[in-house]
Amino acid sequence: MAAKTTAQTWDTDRYQTQHDFVWQYGEGLLPLLAAQPGECILDLGCGTGQLTQQISASGAVVTGIDADPAMIAQAQQNYPHLSFAQADAQNFTVPDPVDAVFSNAVLHWVSDPIAAIWSIHAALKPGGRFVAEFGGRGNVQTIVAAVEAVLGQTDLHPWYFPSLAEYAQLLESNGFEVTYAQLYDRPTPLKGKHGLANWIRMFCDRTLTDRPDAEIETLLSQIEDRVRSQLYIDGQWVADYRRLRLVATRLDSQS
Ligand code: BEZ
Repeated sequence: MAAKTTAQTWDTDRYQTQHDFVWQYGEGLLPLLAAQPGECILDLGCGTGQLTQQISASGAVVTGIDADPAMIAQAQQNYPHLSFAQADAQNFTVPDPVDAVFSNAVLHWVSDPIAAIWSIHAALKPGGRFVAEFGGRGNVQTIVAAVEAVLGQTDLHPWYFPSLAEYAQLLESNGFEVTYAQLYDRPTPLKGKHGLANWIRMFCDRTLTDRPDAEIETLLSQIEDRVRSQLYIDGQWVADYRRLRLVATRLDSQS
């Protein structure tokens, strides 16, 4: 999933129709979670609920949380038999500690990663596991560079893309033992001839907000021109994703 941890709301239709790769790739994380029947699992940043549903199909008792009320409303409509709630990754609590926290494609939206790690730690039973994937250092850097160049601004992007060492260190300094960590390139095909423009409209909406439509069209086409030789491959736009994948266990104490 991919949920923002601010009050900003998503276009859930655009998300489900054009960016379903977010949860389709997230399915690759489920074997690392290895949910067991009867386990209690929190899906942190559940988006429209597709992975929450897959976790539930393993027999686990799962709750999905997301910061965006529009995502939660859509998830509840998609899967009325499952439990969803609106909550911020940086400041959430659970009624009872869970066996595992699962998070796909959300933690790069979190501006205070330590606050999120504390919330995750507090939500887990001692020995509970944290299984996550999100953007790592260098993620979508070709796209970001082009957007910044065309807009003539730097540091536009709102995301947190840490290195493997940086995030593992944060976890180990805050009560976790990291048992698995991987940073890998995942070139990600984007649907249709407007795939890159749609991606930018979906995920860089704050950057484009408040500009007239005609100006947005011009900017998007300038961005496409800048990256076409690198990201338009065999008739398809391909985003230069780099993923950070981690499994960590909550230690009994913070020591
Ligand atoms: C990601 O999943 O890596 C991602 C998605 C949207 C914007 C930035 C990164």
